[in-house]
Amino acid sequence: MPDFPDIPRHIAVIMDGNGRWAKERGLPRREGHRAGAESVREVADTCIELGVKYLTLYAFSSENWNRPEAEVKALMALLDRFLVEKSKDLKKQNIRLQAIGQLDRLPVKTRALLDKIMAQTADHTAMTLVLALSYGGREEIISAARSLAAEAVAGTISPDQIDCTMFASHLQTTGIPDPDLLIRTSGEMRVSNFLLWQISYAEIVIVKKFWPDFRKNDLIEAVREYQLRHRRFGAL
Ligand code: IPE
Ligand code: IPE
Ligand code: MG
Repeated sequence: MPDFPDIPRHIAVIMDGNGRWAKERGLPRREGHRAGAESVREVADTCIELGVKYLTLYAFSSENWNRPEAEVKALMALLDRFLVEKSKDLKKQNIRLQAIGQLDRLPVKTRALLDKIMAQTADHTAMTLVLALSYGGREEIISAARSLAAEAVAGTISPDQIDCTMFASHLQTTGIPDPDLLIRTSGEMRVSNFLLWQISYAEIVIVKKFWPDFRKNDLIEAVREYQLRHRRFGAL
């Protein structure tokens, strides 16, 4: 493992290209998702090795509910399997599991599994793995705006008290530092409603490979690219 001086504290990943990976091989799309789950394991392990403290994975977007029912079902079944299989490793590896998104839209069984594993891993300290599930950045921002509006109406805050810190504390990512590095696989140059507020100053690395082909060395290369960037945060 290379000795990195500047490891991103938080890496966020738009795991894209499972369907195209499968299509290239003449396989059904769900096989791409299945292969993608292997990349998730490898990338999470590599993050631990590197000393990354937060890894957020975009696993299912608000818009992904619009996919054919069979694909949504297959994705949820894979997620269940991933959670069941991964829960032992999370304990061994001291990983805390968190989830963001409209979790009440998930199947009851998936939601229960998530809740159970999140509770079991709540005091783990090596790394926080955040799964973005049924997640949309706009929906998250609207929900924060609603709760702030409700507090203003109730008179517990006044509108001019609302600043970036207060707003961020009403997002589901409260307590999690903003991503330093955002990776998107499959070459697509868009953010697709992911962490819209939080990626303000993230360094973006777009990788051509489809997600199921993105493994340990690809992550290390993305981190190297991040380290060559000069972050200025608007200053000189
Ligand atoms: C990413 O792969 C996984 C999810 C969005 C759930 P896709 O399913 O978007 O694969 P492509 O982009 O169609 O190849
Ligand atoms: C983004 O990928 C969502 C996830 C990776 C979960 P999509 O494939 O859904 O996004 P678009 O359709 O290319 O924007
Ligand atoms: Mg896609």
